[in-house]
Amino acid sequence: MQFEIIVTRDTNLLVPILHDADEDDTRIASAINDAENTAYAAYVGDECVGGAVMRWQPDESEIIYIAVRSVDRGKGYGKALIAQLVELARQQPIQALMVGTANTSIENITFYQRCGFRMDSVRNDYFSYFQMPVYEHGILMRDMLMLRYDLANLNLG
Ligand SMILES: CC(C)(COP(=O)(O)OP(=O)(O)OC[C@H]1O[C@@H](n2cnc3c(N)ncnc32)[C@H](O)[C@@H]1OP(=O)(O)O)[C@@H](O)C(=O)NCCC(=O)NCCS
Repeated sequence: MQFEIIVTRDTNLLVPILHDADEDDTRIASAINDAENTAYAAYVGDECVGGAVMRWQPDESEIIYIAVRSVDRGKGYGKALIAQLVELARQQPIQALMVGTANTSIENITFYQRCGFRMDSVRNDYFSYFQMPVYEHGILMRDMLMLRYDLANLNLG
């Protein structure tokens, strides 16, 4: 079945899918509607299986959100979505794709590296605004790990 991504600002479609990337639906909707961002829905046939929000910028572009709906995870759609974003990036004067994930998000850190990203930097205490401590895998969520997909080099994901 063909996998394709389509530009959309359909918040009814994308917010429920992207909710697992951010618990704040208002923030997700704002990102989708932000004129500086481009939002995508990923389709397999007629089914919307995922979504992403990109901030395209010269030099470094950023994946603001990416998610695959829970029933469709582990089928390669997340990797296919990244591959399509990389393809779009290659058509522009962009040097790298950046993405941030929490220090506790071990699965996402694995996912991005398997898609060809490499660790780049740490935004220490990024999550210090949390009112209550959040733990994943017994680790306190506190820092944002930035990963980079360098378009100039071969990424062996
Ligand atoms: C992260 C996410 C987009 C991955 O999508 P997916 O469709 O399940 O991923 P894929 O099936 O394409 O997997 C791609 C690779 O990552 C690995 N991977 C994906 N999820 C993984 C997990 N939970 N644990 C370990 N490895 C994982 C796969 O094994 C695969 O490796 P391979 O290609 O070398 O075989 C999906 O889990 C998701 O939507 N999560 C909730 C939202 C979220 O957290 N978004 C990221 C915010 S930073």
